[in-house]
Amino acid sequence: MRIAVPAETESNETRVAATPETVKKLIALGAQVAVQSGAGLASGITDTDFETAGATIAQGAGATIAGADVILAVRRPQASALSGAAAGASVIAVMDPYGQEAALQAYAQAGLNSFAMEFMPRITRAQVMDVLSSQANLAGYRAVLDGAAEYGRAVPMMMTAAGTVPAAKIFVMGVGVAGLQAIATARRLGAIVTATDVRPATKEQVESLGAKFLAVEDEEFLQAQTAGGYAKEMSKDYQAKQAALTAAHIAKQDIVITTALIPGRPAPRLITADMVRSMRAGSVIVDLAVERGGNCELAVPGQVVTTENGVKIVGHLNVAGRIAATASSLYARNLLAFIETLVAKETKSFAPNWDDELVQATLLTRGGAIVHPNFQPKA
Ligand code: NAI
Repeated sequence: MRIAVPAETESNETRVAATPETVKKLIALGAQVAVQSGAGLASGITDTDFETAGATIAQGAGATIAGADVILAVRRPQASALSGAAAGASVIAVMDPYGQEAALQAYAQAGLNSFAMEFMPRITRAQVMDVLSSQANLAGYRAVLDGAAEYGRAVPMMMTAAGTVPAAKIFVMGVGVAGLQAIATARRLGAIVTATDVRPATKEQVESLGAKFLAVEDEEFLQAQTAGGYAKEMSKDYQAKQAALTAAHIAKQDIVITTALIPGRPAPRLITADMVRSMRAGSVIVDLAVERGGNCELAVPGQVVTTENGVKIVGHLNVAGRIAATASSLYARNLLAFIETLVAKETKSFAPNWDDELVQATLLTRGGAIVHPNFQPKA
């Protein structure tokens, strides 16, 4: 079983799909591991670190992938770059397949199996493989640090000889995995923290972290959580009530962190240009939803913009990648945990059980076809 770890090709991708720790464990599973020279550098891992762990270092993507049975990546590699892999090789990555039918078709035509890590079911057995959680948690943490760094004042209350510095007010909108970590981080920094969400289950979670909960708690709110634990898109009426409630609150905040997402939909618009205009100069908005259309009307993907009234809006992309070493370490462990379920212990070969629910949920292409139910032609 040959496993290849090519370098990521997207310019802002700092993460890597394996670490010395996971390389050792992959080898213990019976694999030979080839890592592309330089693949770990942006995560603080040198070729020597990988070599010491037992990997072979290969020069260039082609040499890394040559003969590979399994290719591990953070982001979906181009199918055309994988032609040197073994016949029927498997790619395990964040595949980002929606709206990418041509890329999926290319995978199918190349005879590649592909597994989308972001489709891992959120069941107990698969928690250790949940890349959305491992990366969102770090993004939530980093968002608060990014917000604090752009904020021209101190976050905690300080009583000094020169006078008292008030604690910053931080408001977290959307309390999933990222939002909960943002609340915890903001609390650790000493901020006065409030948070909002449309799912009723979040109220207790917010309060248990020592923050105050703020939401329109009507009938629709009580029904807002899907069976899968996600939010629904709220009605226009609810959105208007939510905006009215949060508008007055946002005007008094120093830092606002937005993390609100709805599966399969654009991110909900929670902060209008008018709300931004109501904020004080020097306040900061960090929009973690910017890659999905943004929660803030004025957020610009990949940029930190300052509005005319002096509000900074932070729209960093790949926020988990801004804390690359930790993000890679957790992502690589997520992959390793999944691979452990795909390897036959006796033969030490890559032999997925195609009926396993984790395989069925994540498998996009196999045997020359797109097999995932979400990507079948409409009947
Ligand atoms: P997400 O990234 O899809 O969304 C982030 C948050 O935005 C959610 O809390 C959502 O309710 C909120 N949101 C959506 N529309 C909003 C609006 N208009 N205003 C305010 N907030 C809005 O969510 P994430 O982080 O993926 O978590 C989703 C659920 O999955 C949660 O219940 C979480 O606890 C659960 N989960 C379960 C795991 C498991 O293994 N059992 C692992 C990780 C998460």
